[in-house]
Parts: sequence; structure tokens; C-alpha cells
Amino acid sequence: MNPFNYSYPVKIYFGDGITEQTLETELANKGKNTLLAYGGGSVKKTGLYDKIHKILLNSGKNISDFGGIMPNPTYAKVQEGARLVRENNIDFILAVGGGSVSDCCKVVSAQAKIEEDLWDYEYTLKKQPEEFIPMGVVVTVSGTGSEQNNGAVITHEEKQVKGPLWGAFADWAILDVELTMTVPFKQVVSGTFDTLSHCMETYFGKPGDNNVTDEINESVQRNTIRNIRALLENPEDRTARSELMWDSAMAENGILKLGKQTDFQCHMIEHQLAAYTDCNHGAGLAVIHPAVYRRIYEDYAPKFARWSSEVWGIAVDGKTDETVALEGVEALAAFIREIGLPCTFTEMGITDKDVFRKTADSCILTPGCARKLDRNEIYQMLAECE
Ligand code: NZQ
Ligand code: ZN
Repeated sequence: MNPFNYSYPVKIYFGDGITEQTLETELANKGKNTLLAYGGGSVKKTGLYDKIHKILLNSGKNISDFGGIMPNPTYAKVQEGARLVRENNIDFILAVGGGSVSDCCKVVSAQAKIEEDLWDYEYTLKKQPEEFIPMGVVVTVSGTGSEQNNGAVITHEEKQVKGPLWGAFADWAILDVELTMTVPFKQVVSGTFDTLSHCMETYFGKPGDNNVTDEINESVQRNTIRNIRALLENPEDRTARSELMWDSAMAENGILKLGKQTDFQCHMIEHQLAAYTDCNHGAGLAVIHPAVYRRIYEDYAPKFARWSSEVWGIAVDGKTDETVALEGVEALAAFIREIGLPCTFTEMGITDKDVFRKTADSCILTPGCARKLDRNEIYQMLAECE
């Protein structure tokens, strides 16, 4: 294994129906001026907003509202949040939502503490923020695992880039399956595919060896696949949903990344596609993954063959690594069809070839990819997925 240091700062509360009591306990020790951050309105429809608002009032907090955080959160929204934090002397951010709300708040937490523009600070000055407004996350849709780490993905509209920024780790995160029961099923499935994608992107980082990290990863992948199938049988299956919630956390809490290189090339392509189209993250990944893997499996055939066998149960006997590897990639493609995610960009309403060209020309090329992809090749691949 590669050398590593590991420590984990986020306290996790995991359980069905634990939100209200946990919030009462945690908020008692937190600052008085609270930023209540949420998305486009689902929290109001589900009644969660009212419950949390009441708990905050009962805990004696001054509440500043920061709603309307959109899927694929924008840098302008981050700046709006940072302004609110400064104007209201916020000393605690409570993020209630999915990856978009959590990502936006992690960066608001950092931007509010520095004068400089955070994008320039990180991309031009190559500095990382070190001071943060403390925050907690109430997860309402799982899949990204955003609440587990301090990375965020933000769309800078003027620059036409959806790129990573470093922000705060949450002090704590509440993972309560009850809150996810109202998520539209399409979003549940695309979120769970995001989890599977994180596992695969981590697993296939090259160079890599097959160590304990990869063996845990294979288990998380098998569990994710099994529980997505269980949800297709019964969308109300709370056991399956809670397992998927923990799979999502496991894929992004750092455990699967220890001692190895990661890849994330499919993510980098999808993020740039989203900069131009605002597409759904998990759905975009579903189209991109098989296309990328059909192009790179021969460059890392032993690892792809092992994955085919361990994750998809492909028989190995007498076949070459390349054959087994490709069978696994096709099993992934069949699974994507089985769970009803898109296999083409047309199904997602994306048909503009110019978007494919711009995405290919501007996406990050990752050092851990089995083979460094050429930009023309990425364009061809995206166009073939039309
Ligand atoms: O905005 P509202 O009205 O709340 O509706 C949301 C949104 O439309 C809805 N929703 C959330 N909880 C709900 C609910 N609807 C009903 N009931 C509930 N309980 O679900 C929709 C999607 O929410 P969003 O937060 O956008 O989804 P997700 O969690 O998939 O987050 C996607 C964002 O996370 C980034 C993605 O790029 C994307 O911007 N990612 C962040 C990562 C990280 N920081 O580690 C890793 C990922 O790879 C990913 O890139
Ligand atoms: Zn993702």
C-alpha cells in the first residue's frame, strides 16, 4: 500500500428517525446565529423545514434563511451565502439537503472567512482555506457522500467550469433514512449510481495494487448493486435504503481511498458536461461510465478482470483477462439499463455536438486513469453516446 495519514473529523449520527432528537442535542452546544441552508423547496413540502425551524427557535437561535440552493450549485449562490454569513454574524451553518446544499455550504463556510475570492485563492494562488464557520449537515438525499468530506463541486457560470473547491468538513452529519423516503425514485436511483461510480473511480486508479482497501471496495460495490435491485422490487424498502445510505458514506469518507491512487476521469467529464447543460450528476455518469471503460479496459485488463469476477460474478475459467474484463463492462452497461438510467445523452435531452466538443476540450484529465485519454478521443466517445 502507498503510505498515508488518516484521521476523520466528521461525527456521524446514523439511524431511522433520529433527526429531531439529535438536532436538539447538537444545537445546544452551537453558536447563537444560525444560517439555515436548504435547496429548492422540498424541505418545505415535506414539513422538515418547519420541524427544524421550531427546534432552532426552541434552542434560542437567531435564524437567517438561505434557501434556493440549486442542483449543481453556482459560485454566485456561494457568494450570496457568504454575504449572509458576514451580514448576520453567523456562527453556525446548518445545511439541510443533498450534495448540492452540502457542497454549497462547505464553500460558503470557507469564503465567509477570507477577503479574497475563494476561486482565485484556490486555483490561482494554489492556497487552501484553513479557517471555517462551523457547520452541520442533515442529509435528505444520499448518494454523493458529500457530507463526509471537505470537497465541493461548484459551477462557476462566468468561467463555464464546474470544478472542485476545498471547503469545510462538517462537525457532524445526520444520516436518517426517514428523511429520504420522499425523494423522487428517479433521483434515488441516480444517487445510488453515483455511489457505485465513486467506488469504481476509486478502485480503478492506476497504478494500484489489490489490497485491503480494494477488497472493502468490492464489498461496497456488491452491496450497492444488491440494494438498488432490492429497491426496484420495493421502493419503500427501508433496510435497502439505509444500506445504500451507508454505502454512499463509505464511498466518500476516505476509507476506500487509503493507500492507493484514485481515478475520477468519468466524474471530470461529467462535471464539465454539467457546466454546459446543468445535467443530473448520476444520470450523466451512467452514460459516461461504460463508454470510458470500453475504451480503457485493455489498458488495465487484470484489474478490470478481477472486478468482473468479484463484483459482477463473471466466470473466469479459460478466458483471457481482456475477455473477462469486457464482460464486466457489459454487465455494468446492462445493469444501467436494468435500473432505468439513461444509456444515451439523447435520453437526457442533450444533443448539441458543440457541447461535447467544449466538454472534451475543457475537462480535467486525471493522472490515475488507466490510460490518459486524448481530447479528440473524449469528443468521439461523447458523440458516440448521443
Ligand atoms: O432542491 P430541493 O427542492 O431540496 O430538491 C432536491 C433536488 O431537486 C431533491 N431532494 C433532496 N432531498 C429530498 C428531495 N426531494 C424530495 N425529498 C427529499 N428528502 O433532490 C434533488 C437533487 O438534490 P441534489 O442535492 O442536487 O442531489 P445530489 O445529492 O445528487 O447532489 C448533486 C451534487 O453533488 C455534487 C454533484 O456534482 C452535484 O452538484 N457531488 C458532490 C460530491 C462531493 N462533495 O463529495 C461528490 C459527487 O461526485 C458529486 O460530484
Ligand atoms: Zn459523484
